Amino acid sequence: MRKNWFGITAMLSVIILLMLPVAWSSAAGQDQGFIEKGRRLFLKHCAPCHGAEATGHGPVATQLKKQPADLTVVQKRGEKFPIYKVMTFIDGERVVPAHGTREMPIWGRVFRRREGEALARSDIYALAKYIESIQKFKQ
Ligand code: HEC
Repeated sequence: MRKNWFGITAMLSVIILLMLPVAWSSAAGQDQGFIEKGRRLFLKHCAPCHGAEATGHGPVATQLKKQPADLTVVQKRGEKFPIYKVMTFIDGERVVPAHGTREMPIWGRVFRRREGEALARSDIYALAKYIESIQKFKQ
């Protein structure tokens, strides 16, 4: 009986060990999905000002009073990527005059957060994930 338990425990451990990489890779795959979606949204809605490279040199940038931020250095050296802060910038909780007001952000109603609008929320998250993926000082 004792022997049997040992066998079962050993087998379960092996199964768990074999499944770990699958769990990891599917989490990474999901991240990759968000990043890809965020990239598409970025090129459409943000690149005019922030530039396709996100360094702040989009075609509209010269028309603005304020230079769009270089979004590849949001994460400071040795610090974590401030994903929540970035999401509040996109969401309009933090005011950036060039972004327009929360009621009328420059990109229209696309990312406006309204109750029950899971889609807009996930778009904001996707954009933030994309910005995270292009940081110069990634840890
Ligand atoms: C009309 C031009 C314009 C568009 C379009 C635009 N931005 Fe901006 N953005 C700016 C300007 C200008 C600043 C800098 C404001 C400042 O420094 O006060 C800025 C600042 C930011 C910041 C703050 C960066 C920091 O650390 O200070 C974030 C994040 C950001 N933009 C993200 C986005 C995203 C994501 C999009 C697309 C959904 C977007 N922006 C679209 C002009 C624009």
